[in-house]
Amino acid sequence: MNEHDSERISNLLIRDGYVSSDNALTADVVVLNTCCIRENADTKLYGNLGHLKAIKDEREDFKIVVAGCLAQKDRDLIRKRAPWVDLVVGTHNVSRVATLLEETSTKGPIVEILEESILDQEFFSSPGPRLSLPYSAYVTVQIGCDNNCAFCIVPQVRGKEISRPFGELLGEVRQLAQDGVTEITLLGQNVNSYGRDLTVDARRSGVFDSKIVGEQYLSEEGARLRPLFGDLMREVAQIDGISRVRFTSPHPKDLRPETIEAMASTKEIMNHLHFPLQSGSDRILALMHRGYSAERYLEKLRDARLGIDDLAVTTDIIVGFPGETEEDFEATLEVAASAQYDGAYTFIYSPRPGTEAAAMVDRFIAPEVISDRFDRLKVVIERSALARHEARIGRVEEVLVEGPSKKNPDHMSGRTGQNKLVHFNKEPQFNSAERLGVGSYVEVEITSATPYFLRGRLLNVVRSPRHRRKLQVAAY
Ligand code: 5AD
Ligand code: SF4
Repeated sequence: MNEHDSERISNLLIRDGYVSSDNALTADVVVLNTCCIRENADTKLYGNLGHLKAIKDEREDFKIVVAGCLAQKDRDLIRKRAPWVDLVVGTHNVSRVATLLEETSTKGPIVEILEESILDQEFFSSPGPRLSLPYSAYVTVQIGCDNNCAFCIVPQVRGKEISRPFGELLGEVRQLAQDGVTEITLLGQNVNSYGRDLTVDARRSGVFDSKIVGEQYLSEEGARLRPLFGDLMREVAQIDGISRVRFTSPHPKDLRPETIEAMASTKEIMNHLHFPLQSGSDRILALMHRGYSAERYLEKLRDARLGIDDLAVTTDIIVGFPGETEEDFEATLEVAASAQYDGAYTFIYSPRPGTEAAAMVDRFIAPEVISDRFDRLKVVIERSALARHEARIGRVEEVLVEGPSKKNPDHMSGRTGQNKLVHFNKEPQFNSAERLGVGSYVEVEITSATPYFLRGRLLNVVRSPRHRRKLQVAAY
């Protein structure tokens, strides 16, 4: 979400005539887009602001912007600790960065934080394709979160859950597809509950607007329940030009059979499910208010695997939630082992101000205990990831090309349908940049595996990219 907001800010500034720069020393504006989901953001922010002060001291017209969650949370504190900051904007008014930046020239420093989530055109104005991957776009389908996980600061900084109108989302994806985007990632804090608020509002008001609930669900009967997230994914997948649909993240308690069914029956919806476990201990899950037990989680996972062919599953796990005992942690190891994940983001519990868990100070776990548990969890995750990746050796995978490999420019990198990173050799006949451009779909035979990526051999170019490309014009 944070990465997406950064791209949104960049795109808005570019539309306003700014050009991107890779050097803060010569740039006119630096935007620090913060995320406060875990600690460290503060330390990093003030460290960076310290460095930027030196530039500001040299050049008065140099502008510093702080945006994102931390800005939302700490608003005035930022200006107090770093008075040389020109603009502080929160998570709900990202779209105003360009305008506000102009205003700082006449009005001086500005702090603008909107308290309430707003649902206006401007907030959601389509950010266009991703800057780094022009064939791919993130589409925010929902903002905010109505859950109250005891560790999580998101509801405080992102506000209540609001779904975007169905018709508007489809219009946005159609436009992206016309611009040559072939991969769409639907984003939401709780993406699988997309539409819940739309139907509740429609029922309450008695107004069943086709743009909001979708034409096909317009009858009052249909609109009582729909559109569901599965409906949205299916419709997005049917748009001409869209080959890959992804989404992140669903909440396990809300994963509906309709979502599994949409994934199972629509080839454009990729066979990857990010399914955040957080803990494998029922006691800790209850303290976290996650709304499921380990058994229920595994049941849902089993249903997903039974329904969806060749499904890759990844997860998020927090180690060291307050009061986590050795027994609780072993339960997490057991669930992780039986879930056979393809990969996991593992986090050390980080107390966030204002959250329920942050008040459980007397139950905080010693750092050395956490660090030991963290390492043990990594072993379990890597074991299943490696096994699942090794099982792919010899298979031919369709890979969407991201570009030259970062480690070895002679190799290319891309992603499989399961979202696995693959590095592959270019055969001599494929050296033409035109044919193997970023955004091409190619077939790669998998030759070896690690817990984090696959290696392979290019067999075939299936489709060339459709997005507009910038031509290099040499200056003479
Ligand atoms: N400490 C550690 N990890 C956290 N996450 C969210 N809040 C915290 C926290 N306070 C993790 C969760 C979530 C992911 C995005 O970040 O695992 O799924
Ligand atoms: Fe945070 Fe829980 Fe909402 Fe996810 S579902 S954003 S972890 S409160």
